[in-house]
Amino acid sequence: MGESVFPKDFLWGAATASAQIEGGWDCDGRTPSIWDVAPVNKIKGGADCHTACDHYHHWREDVAMMKELGLKSYRFSVSWSRVLPEEGKRNPKGIQFYSDLVDELLKNGIEPLVTIYHWDLPVWMQEKGGWLSNSIVPLFADYTRVVVDALSDRVSWWIPMNEPQCFIMNGHMTGNHAPFVSHYLALPKLTRNCLMAFHESAEVIRKNAKKKPKIGIASASSAFIPENEGKAAVAEARRKSFYYKSGVMSNRWWLDPLLLGETVRAYGIYSLRKSDMPKIQTKLDFIGVNNYSPFQENWYGTNDALPAEKKNSLGWVNDGRGIYWAIRFLHERYQLPIMITENGMCDNDDLSDDGCVHDAKRIGYMDDYIGNVQRAVSEGIPVLGFQYWSLMDNFEWAEGYGPRFGLIHVDYKTQKRTIKDSGFHYREIIETGALG
Ligand code: BGC
Repeated sequence: MGESVFPKDFLWGAATASAQIEGGWDCDGRTPSIWDVAPVNKIKGGADCHTACDHYHHWREDVAMMKELGLKSYRFSVSWSRVLPEEGKRNPKGIQFYSDLVDELLKNGIEPLVTIYHWDLPVWMQEKGGWLSNSIVPLFADYTRVVVDALSDRVSWWIPMNEPQCFIMNGHMTGNHAPFVSHYLALPKLTRNCLMAFHESAEVIRKNAKKKPKIGIASASSAFIPENEGKAAVAEARRKSFYYKSGVMSNRWWLDPLLLGETVRAYGIYSLRKSDMPKIQTKLDFIGVNNYSPFQENWYGTNDALPAEKKNSLGWVNDGRGIYWAIRFLHERYQLPIMITENGMCDNDDLSDDGCVHDAKRIGYMDDYIGNVQRAVSEGIPVLGFQYWSLMDNFEWAEGYGPRFGLIHVDYKTQKRTIKDSGFHYREIIETGALG
């Protein structure tokens, strides 16, 4: 074991999202989100997220397992339609659920990191036009206000949105995520509504939070890995990571307007008008990085030339060097501390005869990626924490329940939870701050 380079207050945690784990889709006054009403042919195996991990009824047990894993933080998201089942109508029971969860986390010494929006738009908002309607900007601010009023006396860490890249691109361009539409020509409008809603939400948090807030975005961000570590190769990888293919659309398209107040021109269109910038540029405290694979030439994080051992079960390339270069390039360009808000690997994990899950491949993945985070920390880049994706196996959106990302295995029939070998391995990393 080497000496730990991680700071004492490093937030070692795990992440989830409401639609992916909660279930309880029609409980206690909640109304459906766009994922609850997904047409049956849009999700693998005809699955739905109505029950998922039934976290809505198992949350105490789930927090106890977080404690057993030694987590210092837990990143979860709030379901908009649980809190506001109709426009302007608060749901006290839905709000209470999150308030109780926060209490239970704090009682167990676990810092809550709250994501306001992780893709589960209320159906009532979609019916008003969803992200295509300008009305979403004030309505998202109102929703944020309800969550802030309820939780900000105990919560310090806030993430208004998870991965605009994905819910705009997958939900409204390729159409393989809810609301399953393709409006390529609407990209500038979607970008504008989305970033303005982010800005307003961050302002609401900044102005109204009772505890001094730390606000960031969870960005689907990565980097190209340099061919070698010589100056020229690093400069070329840096350039591509912001100006080439996924480098433009995953990093610069969203982060330059938000953090630098700059509009981005790509593929013949501008993301925003210069005059929009005062309502877009936002002062943040950190950049949350959701990182799985280094950028690939083909856009999708996949590479046919590589063997299956070097990829996750969805075919995404596993290479921890990507997380190091993402941290380094994003920090250099935007001059903000970095939080790893998601990183993890899916596989087809199963329980062995001994009742355990021996997920050696995931352990190797974690050592590789966390080792590269460690490199960034040891070079003096401010990295605030690492939230493994995911705490438990869950509903993987259009992929259904096949890909398992969890530190905890979930039997979806019985809702039995089993900590995987990787969960115990993570606990050791957290305890010692050192990799094997
Ligand atoms: C999302 C998660 C998702 C994970 C794995 C991220 O893009 O934020 O909700 O489960 O990647 O696909």
